[in-house]
Amino acid sequence: MDFAAALDVAIDHLESLKRQGCKTVMVDRVLLSELLAPPVSHSPAPSTPSSVPSGTPPARVPTSLTSTPRASSGTGVVTEVSASNKNMKGGPGSASFALDREGKEKAMAVLREKILACVQCPHLVASRKNVVFGVGSIHSPLMFVGEAPGADEDVQGEPFVGAAGQLLTKMISAMGLTRQDVFIANVLKCRPDTPGQTSGNRKPRPEEMRTCLPHLREQIRLIQPRVIVALGATAVEGLFGRASVQITKLRGQWTQLEGVDVMPTYHPSYVLRTQSLPIKREVWEDLLQVMQRLEMPISAKQAAYFTKA
Ligand code: URA
Repeated sequence: MDFAAALDVAIDHLESLKRQGCKTVMVDRVLLSELLAPPVSHSPAPSTPSSVPSGTPPARVPTSLTSTPRASSGTGVVTEVSASNKNMKGGPGSASFALDREGKEKAMAVLREKILACVQCPHLVASRKNVVFGVGSIHSPLMFVGEAPGADEDVQGEPFVGAAGQLLTKMISAMGLTRQDVFIANVLKCRPDTPGQTSGNRKPRPEEMRTCLPHLREQIRLIQPRVIVALGATAVEGLFGRASVQITKLRGQWTQLEGVDVMPTYHPSYVLRTQSLPIKREVWEDLLQVMQRLEMPISAKQAAYFTKA
């Protein structure tokens, strides 16, 4: 991410914390001294596949904002990996400042209330049974992002609990994790309405995803995962604000969103529909890459999953 984009992210995040009642953020000594240092000149960083537009770099550059995340060396910033992050390494993702665990939980509770009360899409407000906020550990370095709740998720208020969700749960468990070890969310928090139909789902519309995306981005900024797995083309389109993507071309290729590594892969419902061993293997290889990035142990048995029927 270039400096201007990083600065925008930092300002948005701080403003969002302020709106949520947070009056202080903790920074470590190194970052504080960099923030207090006199301005230095700056050349824009090389562009990344991130969709964040670049802008003119300002004169003042606290270098930590453009650096890769690191563990806190001094007092103040809490960047620990929670006990529930079993086997997963890598603390928070993009930002160099972080809330402590309690602050993060409080900010997330406020964000949850805000999202649950959202009425920005009147047609979805009229049809929804529940707003589907997300589920799992907000301290996890790993997030899964799908497109939108379906009928089961709408009823239960939890993402990925229907047939596709059961497959996602199996994929997570094949990684040696549980749903409680990761955070699962969707681009859209309300089920896309299907007027006149008693069953079936529809793809979220671009304007619905654009309206809802700030909610997901705030979740990402608070959670600061190391890795996001984007499930399917629509999730990638929504996350990056892209008109249309070919998931066959993107899957398995690392990209970045606000400094967080993103691994696009097939949606579990596509895997269910195709019932193809090679497709299952491709998804599994994408998840093996995620495990490697999180420095998780991979057994020989795990490495060989889906190589034979
Ligand atoms: N598909 C999704 O993309 N998300 C869900 O929560 C359920 C199915």
